[in-house]
Amino acid sequence: MSKADLIVGLQWGDEGKGKIVDHMAQTHDYVCRFAGGHNAGHTIVIGEKKYALHLIPSGVLNPKAKNIVGNGVVLSPKDFIEEMKQFDNLEGRLFLSDKAHILLPYHAQIDQARERLKGDKAIGTTGKGIGPAYGDKVARVGHRLGELLHPEKLAAKIMEFFAINKPVFDAMGVDAPEEAALLDELKHYKSVLAPYICDTTQLMWEILDADKKVLLEGAQGTMLDIDHGTYPYVTSSTTVSAGACSGLGINPKDIGKVTGIAKAYCTRVGNGPFPSEDMGDEGDRLRKNGHEFGTTTGRPRRCGWFDAVAMRHAVRVNGVDQVALMKLDVLDGFDEIKVCVAYEFEGKEVDYVPYDLEDVKPVYRTFPGWDKTEGIRTFDALPTSAQSYIMALEEMIGTKIGIISTSPEREDTIIR
Ligand code: GDP
Ligand code: IMO
Ligand code: MG
Repeated sequence: MSKADLIVGLQWGDEGKGKIVDHMAQTHDYVCRFAGGHNAGHTIVIGEKKYALHLIPSGVLNPKAKNIVGNGVVLSPKDFIEEMKQFDNLEGRLFLSDKAHILLPYHAQIDQARERLKGDKAIGTTGKGIGPAYGDKVARVGHRLGELLHPEKLAAKIMEFFAINKPVFDAMGVDAPEEAALLDELKHYKSVLAPYICDTTQLMWEILDADKKVLLEGAQGTMLDIDHGTYPYVTSSTTVSAGACSGLGINPKDIGKVTGIAKAYCTRVGNGPFPSEDMGDEGDRLRKNGHEFGTTTGRPRRCGWFDAVAMRHAVRVNGVDQVALMKLDVLDGFDEIKVCVAYEFEGKEVDYVPYDLEDVKPVYRTFPGWDKTEGIRTFDALPTSAQSYIMALEEMIGTKIGIISTSPEREDTIIR
């Protein structure tokens, strides 16, 4: 029986998970998504071509790898079908959980209405309907992909739901779907997606029992986790390692090596606390060098320095065995590089993540910069100050940095 390798984001998302999943998919038989929806944007660069994946696992670019979308995902059939168009011959190498919850256009309308009503307290969501879809799931009024196989029944249930909640939807300015159009839409989804819908929990057990090499692909990041992130400025799913079990129907003993993905600096998109944010010229320079604009919404990402305190928290919550340090090249040319090594909290210096990160100030240590790491493929060829930076981070977070990435390209990856 094999154990599954797991990839999780350790910061506020967009760490470069897609690149590492694609890299590792070359030696895995299955790649499985376990959480999130099309709020995720995983970019993969192969030669001249750039792919942005939102719901399809990042194993899809390796023709030999098969792809599973687990029950922990909220799936928008409309957006999934659009994404599928980039690829030929997905049949036999794409499996969708019949227990994954369906995200429909009205979820996005509710998401956007709630954000509007919150005004300056808005979360800064992607507006894709993620919160309302997970909300329906937990409130036990959601719909699962298996129901798509019976569109008439599903359309009737959705219409009934709108009738019951009419005053709420009216107050938010969300229109009820028109029944005939809704039914046509659901029938279309069924005609495209039915061949892929199956019991992926059984499939997970079968492939692990058959000793297949399985890779689990996280979305978002630890600081966006519904329980362990900067609540309420988080997403609505379990983004940490534990989510891989509930989101795919496997157990903790099925998990093997955990690789946590982190940038050599830090970014966040959307609102909420970000202690090591740099709002000045250096933050601008990180944004420009790192092309820090969202894959899903195009929004400029907030930029700042590596936060070793939040990272230690993330390493422990996820049980990280090794870190993949991404985008080292973005720090090329800086004279000095800062790292947040502690927080000032209630007049004291602390080395843990307190209840609310809103109330902390970063304490920085400064490291000497270097000239160029871009495209370097061995650790020994890195400038000595870059080597020292990496070793100092390892010391601070108490974990090996086993992978270092020096460009968006698949092969510009150092394995130590
Ligand atoms: P994900 O959501 O974690 O998969 O990350 P995104 O794809 O949203 O954002 C990461 C971005 O950084 C993508 O545009 C990648 O192509 C790019 N990227 C990944 N690794 C590196 C790297 O080592 N250097 C540079 N310069 N870009 C990278
Ligand atoms: P990947 O997988 C970065 C952020 C949004 C917002 C908050 C809630 O590409 O790393 P939501 O639409 O989920 O309700 O928004 O979470 N967010 C992400 N930020 N990367 C992501 O995914 C994200 N998915 C959601 O910007 O702050
Ligand atoms: Mg992303």
